[in-house]
Amino acid sequence: MKIKEKLTAYQYLLKDKLSGDKNRELIALLKDIKLAARQVAKELNSATLNNTIGDLSGKKNTHGEEVKKLDIVANNLFIKSLENGGNCAGIVSEEKDKVLIFNNEVSRSSKYLVCIDPLDGSTNIDVNVPVGTIFSVLKRPTVSDKTFSKDFLQVGSRQVAAGYIIYGSSTIYVLTVGKGVDAFTLDPVVQEFYLSHKDIKIPKKGRMYSVNQGNFYEFPLSVQEYIRWCEQNHEKSGRPYSLRYVGSMVADIHRSLLKGGLFIYSKSKSASSGKLRLLYECNPMSFIIEQAGGLATDGKKRILDVVPKTIHQKSPIFIGSPEMVKQINKFLKSRLFN
Ligand code: AHG
Repeated sequence: MKIKEKLTAYQYLLKDKLSGDKNRELIALLKDIKLAARQVAKELNSATLNNTIGDLSGKKNTHGEEVKKLDIVANNLFIKSLENGGNCAGIVSEEKDKVLIFNNEVSRSSKYLVCIDPLDGSTNIDVNVPVGTIFSVLKRPTVSDKTFSKDFLQVGSRQVAAGYIIYGSSTIYVLTVGKGVDAFTLDPVVQEFYLSHKDIKIPKKGRMYSVNQGNFYEFPLSVQEYIRWCEQNHEKSGRPYSLRYVGSMVADIHRSLLKGGLFIYSKSKSASSGKLRLLYECNPMSFIIEQAGGLATDGKKRILDVVPKTIHQKSPIFIGSPEMVKQINKFLKSRLFN
């Protein structure tokens, strides 16, 4: 959609998507996220010169994955911004085993909680490939002095906002507050995000599928058969499809959102729930893609209907253009997905 007026993310939300006094706290929270994202973008730009590239030696996260120095830098920046902003009572972060409750007086009376992957795709940092931040905003079940882990265990359909920031050739903040999807691009000179993509709609069909095909023989038969189907020649349906896999969920989803496509992270013989985390990867991405007209499933049900049991729970995910998700669903239903 054509952009008529040059608006900052803040102005646009205030004027259009989140007008009205009752939304002020949510707008302020999204501003806290934007502030940290700007700082992360700066850190990433100068990481090679500042010697912040590479692993934090010997440190693994709650999933047993190597932690990068920049994972910690990004995590600290988001925590600081969200805590100081006082618009959020606590967070679940990929980089923290337990929930982090903010104990200052202002945060304690806030209505919101945030689940965040501060730097997704960080194994790609060393080679200058796009990485991102993914976040989900939930309403607290009750606003009281205490926040509990279980407060975060809400179905994805209850998210009030979700977004990602892709740090690529430009830095783009993609956001939904449940009224469609918009994107804001960082102007590096004035360090402000401006509305750049209004009311994004994912193409109904695409010709690209995105999967770590190196795991082919690890996948359930139904997923293997779908991949073989994508590779077959079939002029009428535009096959063979092209395989595109960056290995950074934000980059693969961003391409699918704008160009159409299907992103797959399946379960496999060695990972019975896949790799991606429900609360701060699958749920926010599914909310965004559904709001843009796409679909997202875990192979059995809609991602946004999955009831989380633990804060770092993983889930398989098949997400993207609606026709492509429907097509893979036929494979998942007709053959074993066990
Ligand atoms: P990490 O943040 O540890 O680099 O993980 C990235 C995530 C996600 O962004 C990406 O889609 C997926 O892991 C890639 O995993 P594989 O390397 O197993 O394909």
